[in-house]
Amino acid sequence: MKFEVLVTKEQLEAKTAELGKRITEDYKGKELVLVGVLKGGFIFLADLARKIDMEVMIDFISVSSYGNSTQSSGVVKILKDIDMDITGKHVLIVEDLIDTGLTLQYLKELFNTKGCASVKLAAIMDKPDRRKVDLKVDYVGIEIPDEFVVGYGLDYAGKYRNLPEVYVIRET
Ligand code: IMP
Ligand code: MG
Repeated sequence: MKFEVLVTKEQLEAKTAELGKRITEDYKGKELVLVGVLKGGFIFLADLARKIDMEVMIDFISVSSYGNSTQSSGVVKILKDIDMDITGKHVLIVEDLIDTGLTLQYLKELFNTKGCASVKLAAIMDKPDRRKVDLKVDYVGIEIPDEFVVGYGLDYAGKYRNLPEVYVIRET
């Protein structure tokens, strides 16, 4: 297997800083809870949280979508729910990548039933060509082509999440 860099560390850093600045401006004076989507969202959440210049609370939800490892089925299973009471709070769901959009659509609908003041979505990467549902993602990072990628939180068979850049895997 060969790994080709698709998104560099510098691009990830610059985009995260830009999104953090926008989020700080948009949520000033509000009670914001960042909800990281495990496992993939943990790296972006950690970087993004440090670019938000205000008080935030942080929680995590762990989901898995049924189906094989490279195709999302749209049926999402909650493996670990959030711990915090988010009633009346502004929730920003933080995800690694939007592919079909089914996971974030499901999570947005779920959080909309929990009595939050608002529910918005953030993702550091986006594969717009793969979208199956019409979903508004409020803070989108970098658009990438329809390729399977790893690194910066994203895995293949549980590995490569710790790679600091985003790579396309080519079979050799
Ligand atoms: P969606 O529900 O189709 O939008 O899928 C979203 C999730 O599928 C992402 O958060 C990733 O965890 C996973 N995923 C989608 N594409 C890739 C990829 O290219 N590499 C690794 N994981 C991916
Ligand atoms: Mg994910």
